[in-house]
Amino acid sequence: KTIDWTLEMAEKAGFEHFMLKEIFEQPRVLRDAIHGNAKVIGDVAREIADYEKIFIVAMGTSYHAGLVGKYLLQRLAKKVPIVEDASEFRYEFEDLIDENSLVIAITQSGETADTLAAMKLAKRKGAKVLAIVNVVGSMATRIADLTLYTHAGPEIGVAATKTYTTQLAVLTMLAIELARTLGTADEEYLKELEENLRRVPDLIEDILNLNEPLRELAEGLKDRENFFYIGRGIGVPTALEGALKLKEISYIHAEGLSAGELKHGPLALIEDGVPVVAIAPKGRTFDKMLGNIEEAKARGAHIIALGSSERLREVSDAFIEMPDLDEILTPIPYIVPLQLLAYHLAVLRGNDPDKPRNLAKSVTVE
Ligand code: G6P
Repeated sequence: KTIDWTLEMAEKAGFEHFMLKEIFEQPRVLRDAIHGNAKVIGDVAREIADYEKIFIVAMGTSYHAGLVGKYLLQRLAKKVPIVEDASEFRYEFEDLIDENSLVIAITQSGETADTLAAMKLAKRKGAKVLAIVNVVGSMATRIADLTLYTHAGPEIGVAATKTYTTQLAVLTMLAIELARTLGTADEEYLKELEENLRRVPDLIEDILNLNEPLRELAEGLKDRENFFYIGRGIGVPTALEGALKLKEISYIHAEGLSAGELKHGPLALIEDGVPVVAIAPKGRTFDKMLGNIEEAKARGAHIIALGSSERLREVSDAFIEMPDLDEILTPIPYIVPLQLLAYHLAVLRGNDPDKPRNLAKSVTVE
């Protein structure tokens, strides 16, 4: 009798693609990321607490994690970091980096050429370099003064999924520890955030049950050629990352932006049936977001909303129910349905989501 499972099929553990397998691994690897950093995060936070000049550098999905990191550091640790894509950072910030600078580099592979070059520049200028990395022993870990690992395990799909959410978990833990060290937030609030962060993997298990409804949603959207993703505050990077996932694997044009920017140009592109994906957790700007949704709807947009409010459900054409969480913690669960949506759209359009055209898992040339 022949074995009719290929090695690759075995590696996919019954999933049709690595990307889907990796999306479904998120609860487990998030637990690993949280557990794996619990002991070391305090020391790292204390080592970097005094830096005021903070740069976050990364590319692609890791850059979007950096943008989330910026909001976390602002809100919890009252720091004002600059986030720059590493290919720009090298040329624009050279004169501004010194011994008083902290450079946080975020890279899944630890081998992205631009990110490594930015790190080397930072080292040469005497800056302190902290790397947040997935691949153990990669080049980034050798350049950095300090490394935090994301513990996501190998990621085969070119589109980053589990490595992104684990980067966010590490950044959330770091911001919480910094706030604790610096006394910039109430201990009670920080404890509550930590507890809720530990619940996030379970919440994602529930979100993964939406896989089939999301596939059905994708069926109805598969012939659209333009998508918009809007968010506010800490939801903006989720909008950018949701749009990136769609572009990368489905080859549908997608734009992510802050909802406030809609009426400064993109609204001109909204016509009947254009999907607008709204990242709308409860929080500071929820009412403003409802206003932006109405604006788009009035021009015929097809509203796909992610949130936890009944009012949101009423205004949306498709409502993706999310757990009711502190806004600070929403980037981790909110990206999951957007990963699944992009995945299904890619498959429905006949693409191989694991190997998107023109793209590489790790970009080792500048
Ligand atoms: C490539 C990959 C992306 C990734 C980016 C940065 O473009 O296709 O998924 O986000 O590189 O990679 P890194 O390994 O530095 O996180």
